[in-house]
Amino acid sequence: MITPLTILGIESSCDDTAAAIVRGVPGQAAVASSVVSGQVDLHAGFGGVVPEIAARAHAEKLDIMVEQSLSAAGVTLGDLDAIAVTAGPGLIGGVLSGVMCAKGLAAATGLSLLGVNHLAGHALTPQLTDGLPFPYLMLLVSGGHCQFLLVRDHDNYTRLGGTIDDAPGEAFDKAARLLGLAQPGGPAIEAVATAGDPAGVGLPRPLLDRDDCNMSFSGLKTAILRARDDIMQDKGGLTARDQADLAASFQAAIADVLVQKTRRAVTVARSLDPALSRFSVAGGVAANGAIRAGLETVCADMGLEFTAPPLALCTDNAAMIAYAGLLRHASGESDDMTLSARPRWPLDAHSPGLLGSGKKGAKA
Ligand code: KG4
Ligand code: ZN
Repeated sequence: MITPLTILGIESSCDDTAAAIVRGVPGQAAVASSVVSGQVDLHAGFGGVVPEIAARAHAEKLDIMVEQSLSAAGVTLGDLDAIAVTAGPGLIGGVLSGVMCAKGLAAATGLSLLGVNHLAGHALTPQLTDGLPFPYLMLLVSGGHCQFLLVRDHDNYTRLGGTIDDAPGEAFDKAARLLGLAQPGGPAIEAVATAGDPAGVGLPRPLLDRDDCNMSFSGLKTAILRARDDIMQDKGGLTARDQADLAASFQAAIADVLVQKTRRAVTVARSLDPALSRFSVAGGVAANGAIRAGLETVCADMGLEFTAPPLALCTDNAAMIAYAGLLRHASGESDDMTLSARPRWPLDAHSPGLLGSGKKGAKA
C-alpha cells in the first residue's frame, strides 16, 4: 500500500496563473483545490498574449495563488510531499516566473522539486479525473495545441501527428472576429451555428487527402474570409442567416477534419498497440458539442471507451501539473536547483517538430 502523497502544482506557461493541491496515489488521486487567475483583460487590446505583460502578471500573482490553493485545501507547506511546476513549453517569462517561485518554496522548505511538461499535464488529466489507465489515445485540442498522443506512461508519449499551423481554437477565435462575433470565438461560433446550415457555405477540409495524422487550420480562416466577402459583395451586407450559415459551415469543417483525423490516429495507434481500447479528448475546443459528438461516434464505431475530463480541468490549470508531479515523485524522480525553463519542450523527442508560433507564442 503506497502512502498517499500531497503535491502542490504551479502553472504559469501562458496567460493563466494557477496553483493546485492534488492528493492520492498514481491512478487514484483527487483535486483538493485548484485556483486559476486568468489574464484575458490585460491582453484584450492587443489581439493576442503579450509575453512581457503575461510574465509580470504571473510574478505578481503566483504567491497569492499558492496561498489560496493551500488554504482552500486546508493544508500548509508542512503537509506537502513535493512541489511540481510547469518547466515548459510556453512563454519563457511566464515559465521562468513559475520555476523561480517553485525553487524558492523548495529551498525554504526542503521539499522535492519536480519540473513538469505542460503537455504531459494535459495528457495525464483523464487519469486524474476519471482514473483512466494507460495506454490511451489523446486528442489535445485548444487555443494553443492540437496533437494526437499515444500515452503509455507518465514519461512515455508518442505523438502521432498534429497541426502544422494554427490550433483549432485559434482558428475559431479568428473566424469569430471575421464574422463580428465576441471572443472567445469558439463558444460564440457554436451558439450562432445552431441556426445555420453546416453545408450552407462550401469550405475546404485541409489535408484530409493525406494519409497521416497531421492537420492544417490556417487555410480555413482565409476561406471563410473569402466566403464572407463574396456574400457581402453580392448582397451588400451580411444577414443573420448568412452569419449563421458561415458559422455552421466553419464549425462543420473543423469538426470533419478532427473527426476524420481521429479515425486515422486510432488506426495508427492500434498499429503500435493493438490492444488500445481508450480515447480521451482535452483542451478548450473539447467543449464544442458538434466536435465532441463526432469524436464519440468515432469511438463507438471503433470500439473505444470515450472520456472527456470536466472542462475546468481540460483548460489550463495547475491540478494537472500537480498530478503529473505526483506520478514523477511516486516513481522516485526529482529535479534540483538546476531546473531551467524550457520554452520549447516536445513531449515526444523522437517525433519531428511540427508547429511554428501560434497567437499565444511559441508552443511545442
Ligand atoms: O484550453 P483553452 O482554454 O486555452 C488555451 O488554449 O490555452 O482553449 C481556449 C480555446 C479558445 O480558442 C476558444 O475559442 C476555444 O478553446 N473554445 C471553443 C469552445 N469553447 C472554447 N472552441 C469551439 N467550441 C467551443 N464551444
Ligand atoms: Zn495548455
